[in-house]
Amino acid sequence: MSTRLRVRVRGAGIVGLAVAAELLRRGHEVEVVDRAPGSGASGVAAGMLAPAAEATWAAPGVLELGRRSLGLWPRFAALLGVALPRGGTLLVGHDHGDLLDVRRQATLLDRPAEALDPDALRDLEPGLGWVAGGLLLPDDHRVDPREVLAALASRVPVVPAPGGRSPDVTVLATGARLPAPYSGLVRPVRGEVLRLRVAEPPGRTVRGWVAGEPVYVVPRPGGEVVVGATVEEHDGPPVVTAEGVRRLLSAATTLLPGLDRAEVVELAARDRPGTVDDLPLVGPTLDPSVVLAAGHFRHGVLLAPLTAQLVADHLEHGSVHPLTDPRRLLEER
Ligand code: GLY
Repeated sequence: MSTRLRVRVRGAGIVGLAVAAELLRRGHEVEVVDRAPGSGASGVAAGMLAPAAEATWAAPGVLELGRRSLGLWPRFAALLGVALPRGGTLLVGHDHGDLLDVRRQATLLDRPAEALDPDALRDLEPGLGWVAGGLLLPDDHRVDPREVLAALASRVPVVPAPGGRSPDVTVLATGARLPAPYSGLVRPVRGEVLRLRVAEPPGRTVRGWVAGEPVYVVPRPGGEVVVGATVEEHDGPPVVTAEGVRRLLSAATTLLPGLDRAEVVELAARDRPGTVDDLPLVGPTLDPSVVLAAGHFRHGVLLAPLTAQLVADHLEHGSVHPLTDPRRLLEER
């Protein structure tokens, strides 16, 4: 093993905890500091491991990073003892304009996706309402981030304030709120998310567009579904709005009319950490004692295992992934 490092990870979201778990696994000394664990985006995330379905929302490099991280997820999930249901994702368009969005997304993918007509879609998902067409994205799966967070937190102790000994390195994984002097590198991109409980949930993630409105419905065991998410650029407090709930429910119940009878279990709003180029910030800063694991925008859950590996490799060997190197934005400032 390389030199045993003393590392302080700030932030006990899925990224911070995954980094800490990987460093502990490699024999380093790790302290995770978070005054309010679970209060960031990971605590309400839908948990889609969906590089293809997210292509519309991602910088081109994120598809490559996402595929790589998706490849790490089976082992990561097995190590943590969490479920990784497979079954892919249905990406559908409600009307013909929405179907153009689906087709446009297909052109962004690095693998061909089979176009399905409404009957074929309904064979796969009988609960679908009116749809003009869509795709099955067979490799886009899901996890339950709350299960992942609980499994990680049972392996990685989290403290509310730093302990006495100063670390060799601090890893900043504080999501949409980075401390100075890095605060300007991320901006909050609000997402409102609903949790519903329904008698007959879909068998796989169903997402797409309804009259131009993007929406996803992600099933959990036991009949819960996660419906998300709005995308709003502002830095007011993260509150759930009537408009956000109306838009999400309208789109979700149009895609899956059975959701009309669902019980509303939870409403939440959290900020995603957006960056100026929509790529994450994983790697060194200009200060050798500070490393970033930040700026994951919509992709924190998907990219957590890869981020953990990149940070640990950087600390041990000095390697840096060119797509995520934070210095691309620091040097410009
Ligand atoms: N990853 C989905 C979202 O951020 O809404």
